[in-house]
Amino acid sequence: MMSLDEAIKGRRSVRVYKSDEVKRDLIRECIEAATFAPSAKNGQQWRFIVLAGESKDKFTDLYRKELDKLTINVGSSYGSCTMMEEAPVVIMVWNTNELGWITEGHSVSAAIQNLLLKAYSLGLGTCWIGDVFYTYEAIMHYFKKPWELIAAITVGWPDVNPGPRLRLSVDDVAEFLY
Ligand SMILES: Cc1cc2nc3c(=O)[nH]c(=O)nc-3n(C[C@H](O)[C@H](O)[C@H](O)COP(=O)(O)O)c2cc1C
Repeated sequence: MMSLDEAIKGRRSVRVYKSDEVKRDLIRECIEAATFAPSAKNGQQWRFIVLAGESKDKFTDLYRKELDKLTINVGSSYGSCTMMEEAPVVIMVWNTNELGWITEGHSVSAAIQNLLLKAYSLGLGTCWIGDVFYTYEAIMHYFKKPWELIAAITVGWPDVNPGPRLRLSVDDVAEFLY
């Protein structure tokens, strides 16, 4: 079994996937790992909608059409759209946001990281996609949930093996006041 250090340090965003299907049980395992994250007041604010096949195609069609309507610079969004079109599974991640606290969103981010690490330990590739925010209103309207969109996550069997990326060191990011 993969050690925690191997999972944390070996995980990379995967943006190219094989077309092979990902069994629902594996996605369930990843979501179960997500549910063990810490959460504000143990509110477990995370919610997930798993898209594959037709439900995924409908969503990515909407996303691409909405991107086409925008006149602003959408950055990497078309790349993220293609990634979602090609990945066998896309998980939409939501925050129930019942109390309207900023910390509720933080809970959901913690859950996403658990999900990504579990997926990696199962040999799956994932990518956290924030580019869905470019079309936030349209996506909210499309799913009609009383929640707040946090991210989309692509999941699939990797068809690339990204090497390590440069990381800031502990001394770059931490101050020790003792
Ligand atoms: C909040 C957030 C939003 C992100 N949005 C996107 C995105 O829209 N498209 C994309 O290709 N990658 C996205 N990523 C992935 C980052 O680019 C990636 O995590 C970062 O470059 C570090 O690489 P690594 O994940 O391989 O360690 C996002 C990551 C985070 C945490």
